Amino acid sequence: MSKGPEDIKAAWLQILDLVLGLSKFALLAASLLLIYLLAGDSLASWWTPQERNVSPTSNSSLSRQVLAIEDEVENGIHVPTGLIYAEGFEWVRSTCTACHSAKLVTQNRASRAGWLEMIRWMQASQGLWDLGDKEKPILDYLAKHYAPEDIGRRAPLPVEEIEWYILELD
Ligand code: HEC
Repeated sequence: MSKGPEDIKAAWLQILDLVLGLSKFALLAASLLLIYLLAGDSLASWWTPQERNVSPTSNSSLSRQVLAIEDEVENGIHVPTGLIYAEGFEWVRSTCTACHSAKLVTQNRASRAGWLEMIRWMQASQGLWDLGDKEKPILDYLAKHYAPEDIGRRAPLPVEEIEWYILELD
């Protein structure tokens, strides 16, 4: 079988094809190498596990985020509890959310005497402990921020102050 010019041409084309194919791989490899060299450090931090190792004491970004949410205050309201964020808040949060939701506090309104009465009732029947020297700041806070609200309707008159009169029909 003799090799004509056609065969030789076909052989060269095959070689060319092969070289082109290989150069594509070379280009791909070179690109990857370039990406690694340029961005290797920031990419490496993705797959290093140390950041995911969250323990309650670690200063990781996740626990920082959780702490931020715990302390979130918006328009003077402590977001997780709904309590007004003001002096005495910490005592109320730590004492008055131990057994029930802070909603029982935020949905109630009373005078100082009324709040004291509720505290005494919980102490007598619900296992609330003696608040000691925290009772005053807690009462100050409750009486100031959860006082009976003027909701635009006159409070009912005490019966003895009502001046009764005879309605004259005619
Ligand atoms: C030892 C547990 C405990 C603690 C601590 C506690 N409470 Fe209560 N409280 C209760 C229980 C139990 C009830 C009744 C809940 C119910 O009816 O579902 C209650 C009910 C209430 C109510 C509703 C009363 C009503 O008449 O409906 C208010 C308001 C309230 N608590 C405020 C407070 C405040 C303010 C504090 C912090 C000084 C506090 N609680 C701390 C146990 C507790």
